[in-house]
Formats: sequence, C-alpha cells, structure tokens
Amino acid sequence: MGSLGVAYLSGDRIAQDIRQTRALCAGVAGPLNVNLFMFPPAFRVDAERATAAEAALAPIAQRLGIAAPKLPGNAWHPPLAEQLDAIWSERPEVLSFHFGLPPQDVIHRAHDLGIAVAVTATSPHDASTIEAAGADFIVAQGIEAGGHRGEFEMSGDAPDGLTCVALVEAIRKDIRVPIVAAGGLMDGADIARALASGAAATQLGTAFLLCPEAGTTASYRALLRRTAQLQDRTVRFTRAFSGRWAQGVENSFMRSIDSTATALPFPAQNALSGTIRAAAAQQHDAEHQSCWSGRELRRIRELPAEQLMQRLAAELAQHR
Ligand SMILES: Cc1cc2nc3c(=O)[nH]c(=O)nc-3n(C[C@H](O)[C@H](O)[C@H](O)COP(=O)(O)O)c2cc1C
Repeated sequence: MGSLGVAYLSGDRIAQDIRQTRALCAGVAGPLNVNLFMFPPAFRVDAERATAAEAALAPIAQRLGIAAPKLPGNAWHPPLAEQLDAIWSERPEVLSFHFGLPPQDVIHRAHDLGIAVAVTATSPHDASTIEAAGADFIVAQGIEAGGHRGEFEMSGDAPDGLTCVALVEAIRKDIRVPIVAAGGLMDGADIARALASGAAATQLGTAFLLCPEAGTTASYRALLRRTAQLQDRTVRFTRAFSGRWAQGVENSFMRSIDSTATALPFPAQNALSGTIRAAAAQQHDAEHQSCWSGRELRRIRELPAEQLMQRLAAELAQHR
C-alpha cells in the first residue's frame, strides 16, 4: 500500500493528488492511504514570542536573499473539514492520522464510506486510546522513525521513546486490531523481525528517500547520500522547523534555531519558517531545509522504487 502525506494541502490539491496518484498507479497498485495531521485548536502567539522567533530567522533569510519572515496572523493550515471533503469525494481505501485522534464522527463517516481508519501511536497509552476510538489499525511508530513523531501530547524534551520492535512487543498483548510497525526498517530482515514481534505489516519511510520517484530535492538527496556514506552528522530530533518534534539530519538551521530556543508552538513555527525552507530548496541549500530522516539512514539504498520493493520482498522471503 502506498501513502500520500497531504498534511498541509488544501482540499482541492488533495483531491487532485489522489486522482493523479490513482492515474499513475493504474493497474499496478494496491490500496491507497491518505495521511492527515491532527492540528491543535486555533491559538494566538504572544507578540513578544513571535518577535523573538522572527528575529532568530532574520539572519538566515538575509543569507538566502529573501525578506525576513513574519508570522502570518492566521491560516497556518487548511481546515480539517475542507481536507476531509476531498477524502469523502475521492474515497481512498485508507485514511490515517498523525498527532492524535480524529473526531468520532470522522471515523464513523469513513466507515460508512468503506474507508479504513488508522492512527499513529508512539506509546502503549496512545495505542489503547486509538483502539478504543474504533480505528481499524494502529501505526506503531518507534523512536528511530524519520519525520514528525506522532505523539498525541508533545513532550517538552526531545523524545526518548520505545524502538519500533519494543513498542510492538509492548502493545501486542492488549491490542486486538492489526499493528503496523514503523521506524528504522530498512531491509527485508528488519521487516521479518518486526513481523515476528507481532506486527501485521510494516511501514517504511527513510528507505525510499533516495528512490528517483521520491519528492526529495536534489540538495536533500546529496545530504542524505553524504551522511549515509560518511556518517559525519547526527540524525536527531528538532522543533526548529515546525514547532513539533521531528527527526532529520542535523543542519545549520537546526543548530541555529535550537540554540536560540525560540521555535514557536506547532504549527505556528511551520508557517513562520515556510519561506526559508522554500528558498533553500530553490537555491539547492540543504542547510536550511527540513532534511527528515530516520536513524538507520546509513543503510539506505539508492534504487528505483520497484527494484527496492522487489529486493525487500526477496530479503523478507529469505528471513521468514
Ligand atoms: C520525509 C518523511 C516524511 C514523513 N511524513 C509523514 C507524514 O506526513 N505523516 C506521517 O504520518 N508520517 C510521516 N513520516 C513518518 C513515516 O510515516 C514513518 O513513521 C517513518 O518514516 C518510519 O521510520 P523510517 O523513516 O525509519 O522508515 C515521514 C517520514 C519521512 C522520512
């Protein structure tokens, strides 16, 4: 199953992306999962905090030759209702959520339309909450995972949770719905280990980041390749880009903003840092983009997606 992350996209763009994905995969692909973020209720940022966060970004913007970022007053993300309208009209087979539970009526509507619902858990407590809410399966995200950590309640300190296999082992006895293991799975042997620990399936992110089909920018790819080969940088959690903990290859932006401790709460920081990330991507500057990666980056393989899938399947067959 392929997943389409559409967290920050408008309803129209989500519908368009689902249709395009279906057209590209016509005749070959299995079910489609569309993934949304559960954003927090609207809030205001204190003026002093906003000024400090803007000031921390100003020198970076100057280096990139763009205007100093200003926190937009509102519209930090599209409304969930608008995003869901696209889901109800396009009907992907699976709808998954990161950062918490969707409202009950959303789960019911999805079920009425024959859409399965999944939610990310990073702890046994969240896994039980997800099952009790009526989700069809749980994505158990270990500490190794690249990208945003799907904690329900964001921890103040950098996350220090269970590994993918430890999390599956911790929840499998109490959870009856299928568990999808995610985090640090790079080859068929890893997948076999996760399945043996009690997972019904696995989810891989980092392993696909160097596939030519991936949306990874050229400079992000170069940083991933270099870090995988030289192992001269750490992969760690930061709040610098979005305000929520997310894991990636350490770069100048992370070092600079983390040292000022000015990152705004999610998703305000994401809205504030947007022009910097976009300019950096355009200028082939991996030091100021979010270069998300999991902790097992050093084992990444650069192959077309189809070949990578075939390798994973062959390795899995060997290890089962
Ligand atoms: C570049 C990147 C983007 C991601 N975006 C999302 C996302 O939008 N929604 C989500 O639920 N998980 C997202 N993830 C996390 C994956 O769903 C998954 O938990 C993770 O990739 C598994 O660990 P791995 O990266 O070690 O394979 C992302 C991961 C990466 C590497």
